[in-house]
Amino acid sequence: MLKLTAIVAMTPERIIGKDNDLPWRLPEDLKMFKRTTSGHPIVMGRKTWDSLGKYKPLPNRQNIVISRDETWQDEGADVIHSPEDLKTMTLQDEHVFIIGGAQIYSLFLPVLDELIVSYVYEKHDGDTKFPDFSEYFTDYEVIEKFEEFEVRKYTNELRK
Ligand SMILES: NC(=O)c1ccc[n+]([C@@H]2O[C@H](COP(=O)([O-])OP(=O)(O)OC[C@H]3O[C@@H](n4cnc5c(N)ncnc54)[C@H](OP(=O)(O)O)[C@@H]3O)[C@@H](O)[C@H]2O)c1
Repeated sequence: MLKLTAIVAMTPERIIGKDNDLPWRLPEDLKMFKRTTSGHPIVMGRKTWDSLGKYKPLPNRQNIVISRDETWQDEGADVIHSPEDLKTMTLQDEHVFIIGGAQIYSLFLPVLDELIVSYVYEKHDGDTKFPDFSEYFTDYEVIEKFEEFEVRKYTNELRK
């Protein structure tokens, strides 16, 4: 069965991006992201794909990019046009990670099973925010702690 987990790094104000990039450099967070998502399909918006620059496609993962543009394609990317397409395409694994950005988190929020948040303690300026998720997720457990952030895992009780 398809399991959908969103993974995101955000500040207390839910800031996630600035100028189509991350507002911070947190190597420990990038390592945790790699550990967690390796071997699984990752779904991202076309803008996040663009933001990866020379690092795309992310290795050892099926890179799935969502775009409204029916003609869009890029090397190393499997393209979809709606969340529904995930149900019919061939997936590397049934545990799929939604990796952003804001538009794509909003799109999948109502159907997520799990949410993994790197909660960055320091405030950062930015232009992109994670949606308010209080309607879907409330309780979390802290699964890892670092100097600049902690990793919070939320589970959607209704979907357990
Ligand atoms: N902190 C974090 O963990 C994290 C994670 C990921 C990204 N980010 C940041 O987030 C920012 C980018 O986020 P964003 O919200 O601007 O862009 P995004 O969600 O990455 O991508 C938006 C694009 O996705 C496609 N799209 C959106 N809704 C769709 C729908 N309903 N159906 C089909 N396609 C759809 C469209 O592509 P087309 O225009 O091609 O149609 C749209 O332009 C960057 O700053 C990035 O660094 C942060």
